[in-house]
Amino acid sequence: MTIQRVEKLIYGVEDMEVGTQYYRDWGLEEVKSGPERAVFRTRVGQVIELHPAGHPSLPPTPDPAGSTLRTAIWGVGNEAGLKALVAEVSRDRDVREDEGVFSFSDESGNTVGLTVAQTVEAKVDLVPVNVNKIEPRMNDFIDPKTQANPIRIGHVVFAIEMADRKKAVGFYLDRLGFRLSDSTKTGGDFMRCAGSHDHHNLFLISRADRNAFDHASFEVENFDMVMMGGKFMKEAGWKAETAPGRHILGSNYFWYFRNPCGGNTEYFADMDRMNDDWEPRIWDESPGFSIWSLDDTAMA
Ligand SMILES: [Fe+2]
Repeated sequence: MTIQRVEKLIYGVEDMEVGTQYYRDWGLEEVKSGPERAVFRTRVGQVIELHPAGHPSLPPTPDPAGSTLRTAIWGVGNEAGLKALVAEVSRDRDVREDEGVFSFSDESGNTVGLTVAQTVEAKVDLVPVNVNKIEPRMNDFIDPKTQANPIRIGHVVFAIEMADRKKAVGFYLDRLGFRLSDSTKTGGDFMRCAGSHDHHNLFLISRADRNAFDHASFEVENFDMVMMGGKFMKEAGWKAETAPGRHILGSNYFWYFRNPCGGNTEYFADMDRMNDDWEPRIWDESPGFSIWSLDDTAMA
């Protein structure tokens, strides 16, 4: 069995109280909070863990930002699959084990973990949509609640140095079994886990000279929930990084917010799904950021 999903994200944060409040407002289940450790959970059992930036349990990071993601842990389908992947990466790098999580560095100096996925089945229903004589929402109405309750973490994104791109992307494709969905010569590489149909679970943005965590993205039910979750965040005083819109690559609705724990978070909905019949697209020029956006400056 292969890598299925993002399993856990561990941040080092400069202000635990502010970081904890951010993820509380983001709408995740709060498992515990305190000055040394805060834990949140998605509806399918993925974990967000926060520690103070100087906490001794945290690995080093190539990202110069004070608050940032320190470890991205991927969930593997079963023990045998985990063992095989750990044996593969152990061929040329140190692998440390701690409570069932095997950690090592990728080609960009980011700490990556592997563990067996602890998937929880979430009850997720399609939100019915009325169109003409198709009337699935009969004698019912749209719930006006505004806070999102993200279903799952869909993807993580890192900026990597352009010069190291081939090595950095090759590590995930050739060693960890990721599949390429789209690659733009001027933008980066969108990859999905072997056990996932999401257009991307990992995006490596090629930058001239910067290794840094960029964002983590959380799936919500539909476009309404992207907007209502974002509205709640704005009203709670958090800053949006972009206007809401719909991406070209991945086709997902998006809205990004500045996360005091590091990078951004994104609400997303209705992303493209791919299986092994999909031929990766190689773009000489990036086709652009969005099909549409509520801010014209984000259309390019
Ligand atoms: Fe994203």
